[in-house]
Amino acid sequence: MYRPLLLGVLSAAAGTLASTVDDCPGYKASNVVNRDSTLTADLTLAGDACNVYGTDIPDLKLKVEYQTDSRLHVNIYDAAENVYQVQESVIPRPKSQGTAASSSQIQFSLTEDPFSFAVTRTSTGEVLFNTTGQQLIFESQYVRLRTSLPQNANLYGLGEHSDDFRFSTTDYQRVLWNSESPFIPRRANLYGSHPNYVDYRGAKGTHGVFLLNSGGMNVNVNTTAVEGTFLEYNTVGGVLDFYFFAGPNPVDVSRQYAEVVGVPAMVPYWSFGFHQCKYGWPSVDYVNEVVANYSKAGIPLEVMWGDIDYMDHRQDFTLDPTNYPLEKMRDLVGRLHQAGQRYVMMLDPGIHRKGGYEPFENGVKSEVFLKAADGSLYRGSQWAGEVVWPDWLHPNTQQWWTREIQKFFDPETGVDIDGLWNDMNEASNFCGDITCDPTEKKRSIAYTGSPTSRIKRSDDLHPRQSPTGTHLGLPDRNLFTPAYRINNHRGDLSDSTIYTNVTNADGTAQYDTHNFYGTTMARTSRGALIARRPAKRPFVLTRSTFAGAGAHSAHWFGDNYSAWDDYRISIKQMLAFVAVHQVAMVGSDVCGFNGDAQEVMCARWAVMAAWQPFYRNHADISAPSQEFYRWESVARAAKSAIETRYRLLDYIYTAMEGQSRDGSPAVSPVWFAYPGEASAAGIQTQWFLGDALLVAPVVEDDGTGVDVYLPSDVFYDFWTGKKVVGEGKTFRVEVPALEDIPVYIKGGSVVPMRVEAANTTVELRTKNFEVVVAPGSDGQAHGQLYLDDGESLEVGSDKSELSFAWDGSKLTVDGTFGYQTDVVLEKVTVLGGHNATVKEGSWSLNGPFVVNVGASCRRRSKKAV
Ligand code: NOJ
Repeated sequence: MYRPLLLGVLSAAAGTLASTVDDCPGYKASNVVNRDSTLTADLTLAGDACNVYGTDIPDLKLKVEYQTDSRLHVNIYDAAENVYQVQESVIPRPKSQGTAASSSQIQFSLTEDPFSFAVTRTSTGEVLFNTTGQQLIFESQYVRLRTSLPQNANLYGLGEHSDDFRFSTTDYQRVLWNSESPFIPRRANLYGSHPNYVDYRGAKGTHGVFLLNSGGMNVNVNTTAVEGTFLEYNTVGGVLDFYFFAGPNPVDVSRQYAEVVGVPAMVPYWSFGFHQCKYGWPSVDYVNEVVANYSKAGIPLEVMWGDIDYMDHRQDFTLDPTNYPLEKMRDLVGRLHQAGQRYVMMLDPGIHRKGGYEPFENGVKSEVFLKAADGSLYRGSQWAGEVVWPDWLHPNTQQWWTREIQKFFDPETGVDIDGLWNDMNEASNFCGDITCDPTEKKRSIAYTGSPTSRIKRSDDLHPRQSPTGTHLGLPDRNLFTPAYRINNHRGDLSDSTIYTNVTNADGTAQYDTHNFYGTTMARTSRGALIARRPAKRPFVLTRSTFAGAGAHSAHWFGDNYSAWDDYRISIKQMLAFVAVHQVAMVGSDVCGFNGDAQEVMCARWAVMAAWQPFYRNHADISAPSQEFYRWESVARAAKSAIETRYRLLDYIYTAMEGQSRDGSPAVSPVWFAYPGEASAAGIQTQWFLGDALLVAPVVEDDGTGVDVYLPSDVFYDFWTGKKVVGEGKTFRVEVPALEDIPVYIKGGSVVPMRVEAANTTVELRTKNFEVVVAPGSDGQAHGQLYLDDGESLEVGSDKSELSFAWDGSKLTVDGTFGYQTDVVLEKVTVLGGHNATVKEGSWSLNGPFVVNVGASCRRRSKKAV
């Protein structure tokens, strides 16, 4: 339920009498200049200011650009250009190609008085977005805009949330404000903010809307008898910087969104292996035992993780000298590397404010920490105790962070990590509210170096500089307790995070930039890893994200619970992040972070998550151990799941490379591939992994079967190769064995696989390939295989992009062949008919070839894989 907006409040800023949003006069457009590919206008307040939650801005500008034939940019901003706009350095704006309006797939139309606008689909006249009927409010600390929508609209996105993937259109609210969110509360803001949504209208087409605004906001979605269905943005400031994406197919919308926020970074091949982590491993000896236990259990383990346990008093860039001494850590990592395994370690943003602690002293020298109004360091509390916070927008921060990382993770003298884990970067501040004194967390040792302020009240914290440049933010705002409150589940904007009236080095305020603190941390970590190993593809995992975060890092869904509901939520979250928000390398804490993982659920989760991009088992310090080998049934299930995942690893890698090239989602909901089947709009526990594989896990609590929805098309059971004709409806599949999971190959696909699995991805890369051909109803099939060395940052021409085409009797393999490999294709299996047809041989993958599947083939009826 959301709070009603009709709050009559005194406007402190203007000192006027109480008004309500209904008293606001809206705007009038004038000086409309309509050119071939642009439209501009002046917007003027159409009556007396209402000053409900700040000061009405009397003069606005409207700028409309037909940037491409599928992308429309609509920006409504203050004429003086003081209102904050997201820095180009954070989200570089795409250039307009100056498309003529007449050749655009979507059209902008304007009503001058009262001002409103609409976006329609050119080919059908379908109205996609329409602000008519409610006046625009554009104040210093409150901006409101509403669009009407069709009844029962199919809307997805506005993450991060733990609600239904297709979210409700009745009494629903999405709050965007990055927050530490244990137990991933429902109907609440979580760790990330992604102000974009996809609107799927079945055969009428799909479009996307992105509001490039990093401010806190309530987005209200409701349906009433009088107003119909609407979606209403209520932000604490910023501008209305909209991008509309024409689609018309769902996949097109994903790609078009990626053109604005960036495609996901390509991750290393090894990161698709299985990862094990836990908060609370007491010592490096214990970690060694976990590694040994995996090996003993015969479960392939690719990556081990170091949580804050490794740190000395929870300080970044230190090792606990007793439990995680350097020598033993180097030995652990050395042995992991020798065995072809990897190690990733955590860094939190809170830097211990302690004399003699080098990362802190160096940061002070480089001026990289956020500061209070009086120039003293702004302090908070995190694991180490009293901490200061890096200003990721400061020009020195990258160099400081890189140096600390290079020193501590020096392969010769330090811990030679393979990736970094950025946690707590919303930022999470243990100082819950403004009465907190960070020094009262006694774990810290008093610092006697440079002066610091004792900040106890919000008044002590004025911005240290008044922004005066363009887009830096209006001066004289109440940055601490704005009159318009968003429904942040942590409380006020500044609760449990860095105070929002702290300014960044560039003059902007945390009030405006809070939502991308975590993303800029991840970006800086990525920069540091690239500096450390310039040729190697970095791997960074971040908890907090904003639009575009995928270009810098992977993301996990935070502190979920060991429960079936959270298992299901992980699927919805994956669909949203990969297909809607362009953060592709994602996954949840497998078997759940908090609480006690039950055996059956953990086995099912181990199997289900093997079909998601990022695959890591992780649990809290207070949770019992849940490594897969702890139960026989879970070990069995995990072993078989990992084996299949590894055999399909290049297929997954190919899908992920595709997304990092042009934004085509590596994971997508059923309706992406079948946009004509509106009956699939609500399916949120099945997904396509790549183009070809439809995954349908058991989702009921302790269930032994699943209702599978198959679109009207030809499919093949992945495990038996048997043809299954989908009818656009649901049918029951029994899945009694814990290690089983229904998976279907979409007819018309060619799926490349390794002929066998391996213990590590290093070993896996030496295995030959086979392909499974699953002909569509026209008897044809297509597929791709992307190959490179799996780890170079700049791949250049050292890559192969193989395309497979099956015409009913022969498989033609073509493409580019820049990556030279000794690995060959040794088997082609063609599904269909009573039995599969198999052709064996040895075909080099270093050039094109044709496999004639003729008389010499043998038939087989065994498992497809
Ligand atoms: C919170 C993170 O979400 C969790 O994954 C981690 O284990 C703890 N912090 C401790 O670092």
